[in-house]
This record gives sequence, C-alpha cells and structure tokens, in this order.
Amino acid sequence: MKHIKIGLLGLGNIGKGVWNIVENNKDKVENYLGNSLEIKKILVRNIHKNRDINVPEEILTTNPKEIIQDPEIDIIVEVIGGIDTAFEYIKESFQNGKHVVTANKAVIATHGDILHKLAKASGVSLRYEASVGGGIPIINTLTQSLSANKFDEIVGIINGTTNYILTQMSDFGMDFNEALKLAQEKGYAEADPTSDIEGEDAAFKLSILISEAFGIRISPKDIPREGITKISKKDIEYASQLGYKIKLFATAKKDENNFKFYVHPTLIPINHPLASVSNEFNALFIRGNAVGELMLYGKGAGSMPTGSAVVGDILEIGKLIETDYKAQSTDSFKETDLNIIGEGIGQYYIHTEVIDEPGVLGKIASTFSRYDISLKSVVQRARGNHFVPLIFITHEVDRSQLDKALEEIKSNGLVNEIASILRVENL
Ligand code: HSE
Repeated sequence: MKHIKIGLLGLGNIGKGVWNIVENNKDKVENYLGNSLEIKKILVRNIHKNRDINVPEEILTTNPKEIIQDPEIDIIVEVIGGIDTAFEYIKESFQNGKHVVTANKAVIATHGDILHKLAKASGVSLRYEASVGGGIPIINTLTQSLSANKFDEIVGIINGTTNYILTQMSDFGMDFNEALKLAQEKGYAEADPTSDIEGEDAAFKLSILISEAFGIRISPKDIPREGITKISKKDIEYASQLGYKIKLFATAKKDENNFKFYVHPTLIPINHPLASVSNEFNALFIRGNAVGELMLYGKGAGSMPTGSAVVGDILEIGKLIETDYKAQSTDSFKETDLNIIGEGIGQYYIHTEVIDEPGVLGKIASTFSRYDISLKSVVQRARGNHFVPLIFITHEVDRSQLDKALEEIKSNGLVNEIASILRVENL
C-alpha cells in the first residue's frame, strides 16, 4: 500500500473544504484509492490565526518551498486563487515532479495552454475540475464521459453570485444594489464584487469550457462580455410580462461555419429548465451530436461542493500514481476551420425611455429599418411624466449594426435613455 501525500497551498474556504472531506470521508476515499491519503503540509499566511477547523498547527507553514520541494509530497493542491503567484507555484510544482490539482479558474483560463505543456514535459498531471461550476462535474463530463461527442452548444449559468442577485430581484422585487448587499451579507458576493457582476468570472470559466469542449483557445479577455449592473427591476418585470426570465448566460455555440461565444445577460423563455435555476445554483446545458441535450445542475461555489471536485481530482491522480502512468495533459489546441466571431448575430431586448409625444415610435422604427434591423415586437408600458418606456425585441441582428442604430436614435434627441440592451435566446 502506498501512502499518498498532499501539499495544500491555501486554507481559505476551499482549502478547508478539502481538509474536511479528506478527514470526514477518509474511509470512503482511501477505499476508492486503495491507498492511504494524507494532507502532509498546508501553506497559510498566518500560522497562529484562529481557525474554525481542527488542523494541527505543526503541519502549517508560511514557506511554499517547504511544500513544493518536499520529496515526499506527490500532489500539490493550489487553492490560493489569483493569477501570478498561483502560476509560479504550479510551475515550480511541475519542475519538482509534482502533480497539481487547482480550483483556480483565473490561472487556468489565462495560462492553461502553457501549464498543460509544462505538465506534459514533466510527465505529471494537471487537473482543475473545481475551476468551473464548483461541485458540478463539468470538466470530466466533457472530457471523459462525453468524449465521443462533437459539441454544438454549451450554455450555462456559471456564476452563482449574479444568479443569486437576479433571483432576489425577480422573486422579491429588490433592486440591484439591495440584492448585491444581501448577496454580500450571505457570503455569496465578495467585498469587491466586480469580477462576478461584470461577467469576468464567467468569462474565465467560459474560456476553460471552450478549450475542453471545442479544443479552441479563446483568451478570457477576447470573450465579449457584459455584466448585470445595468439590469433594473423594470427589466425583470417587463421580461416577465413578455414570458422571459433574465439570467447571466455564458454561451459557446457552433453555428454552421461560425463559432460564437459571449457572456451576456439574456432573456430566456420562462418554461426552459435553465429559467428555474435559482439563487447561488449553477447549471449547464450541453448539446452533443451523439448524446443530444443534457443538463447538469448543482452548487457552483462553496467550501464543500468545491472541495468535492478538488478531492475527486486528487483521487483520480492518486489512482494513476501506481500504474504505468502517462501524463493526462494535452499540450496543444486544434486548428479550427470555424470563423471565430465572438458575439455575432442575435436577438436583442432594448429598453428605452423616450419622450412622450406623437411620432416618436415611428421615427425610432424608421431608424431601425434604415439599419436593416427588423423588429419582432414593440411594447409601450405605462406613461411617466415626460418619458415613457418603450421596449423593442429585435429579430436576429448584428450587435455592431444595432449599436450604430442606437447611437443615431440617441443623437436625434427622442430618447432620454437606452436603459438596457439584453440578449434574447429562444432556446
Ligand atoms: N464567485 C463565483 C460565483 C464562485 O459567484 O459563482 C467561484 O467561482
């Protein structure tokens, strides 16, 4: 029997989950592994800090080298987050012949290609199931269970913070700031929520999903994205009256010869299964050419769900350690014939506040028509003092063309405000 030893870099929320799972489920994990498993050392910032977890102080260290260079340690688990330091630690781990498990979407989305190459060169494994969807087994599902498929589409709710905020706005009539405050009080949103509410977190995760499912490398900074900060209570209400829910969607779609990808607040039909994914939950909708449509649902964050994915990766590596082991990392992306077009064409919901006088709607409609933008529906809501909300839903339109038309509409003085532009997906 081999004694598999882990070095844990970080004892925050996820690190604690990893510790608790390894301790509490020891019989289950060791039975699965056929070996014993021990967390030998843990990197922390402050050894003597009070912790709500029973970890012996003698295994804590503030020196990463004590872990990364320890010849007895087989697997390094990186759960410190951030990009640069995590990247350095992972590289050094490979140089020291260690396998690496990480929950860090930012480092994998940003440096995944180089890390795969380095892992392969060192003959070790790099696994990151927890980096997308927390406890939802999406990476292994795409790369193992569904490996026989060619994928057409992956659409998902992959950010729990924004889904929690949108659910509170929709179910309890809160405005964005109230819902964000509640999300912070409940520990879903961070003190600085920018990455979540501006769609960056979802873009990191979408970049990873695109690599895994389509073998195409799209840097997170090249993913068109829009967050949820401009969504108002009124938008939620109008969407609901039109039969839609608003969700922050991460989308990757093959469309004939084109490859589209974006993170965008999106109206989806109220009866679609993704519309009922509420609060901090995540869900992914996948279409493969063999399996057809498939949905995964679960907790996209949190100590134990994310820890579950991390420990799952540890066990998979642990099982390989005693076999005739070959590195699992792929070190190259496929060339693609697809046109990489980012946001591409789509249907849009546009909420405008216009001057309340005869002829305004006609003038706006004729501007849309000059830009070849076809309208599916127009709804006028209750009158205000000077301004009246006008909601347009377009047919398929190119976003840049839409922006030009809206620029002209704004400059002609008829519109007080373009309050929001959201995508519409009739899934
Ligand atoms: N901040 C993320 C979310 C969880 O709200 O989904 C970690 O990826």
